[in-house]
Amino acid sequence: MELAGLRIQSYELPTVVKHGAGALAALGEETARLGVRRPLLVTDAGMVATGHVDRAAALLKAHGLEPALFDGVVGNPSIVHVARGSEAYRDHRADGLVAVGGGSSMDTAKAIGVEVAHGGRILDYEYGRTPLSRRIPPLVCVPTTAGTGSEVTLWSVITDPARHVKFNVGGPLIGPHLALIDPLLAVGLPPHLTAFTGMDALSHAVECFTCAYAQPLTDAVALLAIEYIGQWLRVAFANGADVEARSRMAMAAMLAGLAYGSESAGAVHAMAQTFGGVYDVHHGYLTGIMLAPCSAYNLLGNPAKYARIAVALGEDVRGCSTLEAARRGVAAIEALTRDLEFPPFAAFTGATAADIPRLARMAADDPQTIGNPRLIDARGYEKIYRGLFQA
Ligand SMILES: [Fe+2]
Repeated sequence: MELAGLRIQSYELPTVVKHGAGALAALGEETARLGVRRPLLVTDAGMVATGHVDRAAALLKAHGLEPALFDGVVGNPSIVHVARGSEAYRDHRADGLVAVGGGSSMDTAKAIGVEVAHGGRILDYEYGRTPLSRRIPPLVCVPTTAGTGSEVTLWSVITDPARHVKFNVGGPLIGPHLALIDPLLAVGLPPHLTAFTGMDALSHAVECFTCAYAQPLTDAVALLAIEYIGQWLRVAFANGADVEARSRMAMAAMLAGLAYGSESAGAVHAMAQTFGGVYDVHHGYLTGIMLAPCSAYNLLGNPAKYARIAVALGEDVRGCSTLEAARRGVAAIEALTRDLEFPPFAAFTGATAADIPRLARMAADDPQTIGNPRLIDARGYEKIYRGLFQA
């Protein structure tokens, strides 16, 4: 266990957070306050169909702004979608970005911001290969799911289809300027997406709480996120119109996003991200289904933290040893995944057991493996993958 105070820790948060039912109404005023006059609205076609985007555009126009629409975002957005968005930004002579949607829209907006601020392609900035040197244009994020936390994270995850790789671009320079979080926007989210995105938020909180980069500030937000998710995700899944459940989950996702700090996650995201580069599967499904087995593997690496996760998830651990309590924490994650009716891994993803060695190697090579609480190599990942295929 590391001794407190022997490592310099830093935490940078460039994002103003506004949260609450009806918060979207402030979109025009808040975007104008950032000095934006010609925002590019970044979203996907499905979100346009909900009517949320029209409403966002109307709110912007009501404050004299001239928005243009880019609805070319898809799930697991690629460098191609980012390039199209940058072109739309330049065509409109835009001076800011408003992302409306889930992680895909917000991450695409961040990546567009990097391209238009620096020139070049987003690929040039993969994992800091070319360091970012300029702040992205003003970015307002309006999340419509409660999962990714991208509205406050310093990361953008983009796919390179040629290599079948999802890569990260990150740092304080790409943090959104404003997170405008209106839980009412998630009311219509179907139960399975509520489950997937909610479990992604839990995986952020659990991974960041237990990983090697954890620090007191990120621990604090991660634990509260875990507590909220334990109390409210089942309710949001069962009754999507429950506004308190939606509000707590939106808060939890944002807190779990803050838990990232300036570092990354661990084995769950190493697996989910590399798998998602090969198979076009919802990121939240992957992290959700992988969280319990990865936690079962990891708990020996930090039993005290998993014991606290048990308490945050509402387990009564009085009389338990630390290790017993840690096992209860993992069991509580398993029970939550079961209650949320996650479909079986092989059937849902289309992957086969023959893929395991390759997928395991890719996860082991992913930079997010480094912070995992228990050392893990390709053999460890193979073991977890075998369990997923048997489930
Ligand atoms: Fe995630």
